[in-house]
Amino acid sequence: MNPPVPVLAIDGPGGAGKGTVSRAVARHLGWHFLDSGAIYRALAIAVIDRTIAPDAVADIVKIAHAMQLRFDTAEPPGVCLDGVDISDRLQDEQTGAIASRIAALGPVRQALLQKQRDFRQLPGLVADGRDMGSVVFPDAEWKVFLTASVEIRAERRYRQLKRKGLDVNLEELRSELEIRDRRDRERAEAPLIQSPGSVLIDTSELDIPTAIQQCLAVVRPLA
Ligand code: DC
Repeated sequence: MNPPVPVLAIDGPGGAGKGTVSRAVARHLGWHFLDSGAIYRALAIAVIDRTIAPDAVADIVKIAHAMQLRFDTAEPPGVCLDGVDISDRLQDEQTGAIASRIAALGPVRQALLQKQRDFRQLPGLVADGRDMGSVVFPDAEWKVFLTASVEIRAERRYRQLKRKGLDVNLEELRSELEIRDRRDRERAEAPLIQSPGSVLIDTSELDIPTAIQQCLAVVRPLA
């Protein structure tokens, strides 16, 4: 039997720098990259555009099976949903809020499982999400839990949105993050947890290059 394709699972709450760090780690290693949050976000966009209620499980499952997603490796990365470029809608607050709600539905998570596992291809995969190490790739060789305090995450998000010229409120962002964290952590299906055996990296006091080095150090001794 062929040895399994190596996986580095990077899980953690939103805004901890996970996306930037995992993408850079994948680039350094020359491995494939799975942004599982983008899959939930793309499904959220499909749900919004079809004006389907975010608790209409059977309809959402149908869309999850039928939707065609294409990721490109451009900088910034692009995502096409059924042939339409949705990249500039992925990070919208509405998209994130609906993604978090539909992500709490067990049958929806089940419907997206294979789409995520299909990314596991040679020479290796860096998988970014909430349940990469616990559910999607439980046999991942390396697991990292990348986190940061809610204050720091809210500030980072605030600066990011300000740079885009958006009028945002720090306190509101913080409370939205807390609501989403709670929903991700307390849901019955694949809750956000630090998997046993995962390495904790807290980026509250770390800059991005240091966080990338710490992730690479988890893999390097064996890769
Ligand atoms: O990482 P993100 O902010 O792009 O994720 C969007 C939402 O999708 C987030 O609220 C949690 C959910 N999600 C999930 O439940 N499981 C994953 N593996 C990735 C994201």
